[in-house]
Amino acid sequence: MEATLRTPQTADYEAIASWVVDKKACARWAGPLVPFPFSSENLPELLEVEGCASYCLVDSNNQCVGFGQFWMTDHGAVHIGRIIVSPEARGVGAGRLLCERLMDKALRSTGAHMVTLRVYRDNHTARSLYSSLGFVVVNSESTGDILFMRAMPDKARKADA
Ligand SMILES: CC(C)(COP(=O)(O)OP(=O)(O)OC[C@H]1O[C@@H](n2cnc3c(N)ncnc32)[C@H](O)[C@@H]1OP(=O)(O)O)[C@@H](O)C(=O)NCCC(=O)NCCS
Repeated sequence: MEATLRTPQTADYEAIASWVVDKKACARWAGPLVPFPFSSENLPELLEVEGCASYCLVDSNNQCVGFGQFWMTDHGAVHIGRIIVSPEARGVGAGRLLCERLMDKALRSTGAHMVTLRVYRDNHTARSLYSSLGFVVVNSESTGDILFMRAMPDKARKADA
């Protein structure tokens, strides 16, 4: 699959909004701060996190097929979030590509050595993806509903070398 990251535009936010079909899907994707229903024109503001960078994954036709963000945390780690792939594009590797590209950009642009994320315990698809990317659960930071996960891609790369 050919795909790259680029800055989201108005039409991309309209597409992304159409992928989020109900309250549960909204909470799983964006956490508790984004209400459902929402208007796509308000999405950039609703998704704002201090210092965050937002990216679309686009296919060879420049169509947005995925979205994600990253921001630095107090612990010197970079946190990725709001990961989503268009329902039509799921199951063929777009989510993996999106996460790999986003993690690469996040690590290079921030200089962080650790990537963190949060995922609902019952989101088995996302958990499986994150585990395969090297994320491990941090029990002390997790709750009954939500797992906190971290990965240290640099270490993994050095260990492979
Ligand atoms: C989670 C999500 C981004 C995965 O995107 P995707 O494009 O379907 O994922 P990929 O096709 O790249 O698959 C990557 C891995 O995810 C897992 N996966 C994908 N589809 C799966 C399914 N139906 N059941 C179980 N695991 C699945 C597998 O581990 C897969 O790796 P493999 O192909 O080597 O087996 C997508 O399902 C999504 O947008 N979900 C709704 C929003 C969401 O829950 N975001 C996560 C917020 S934390």
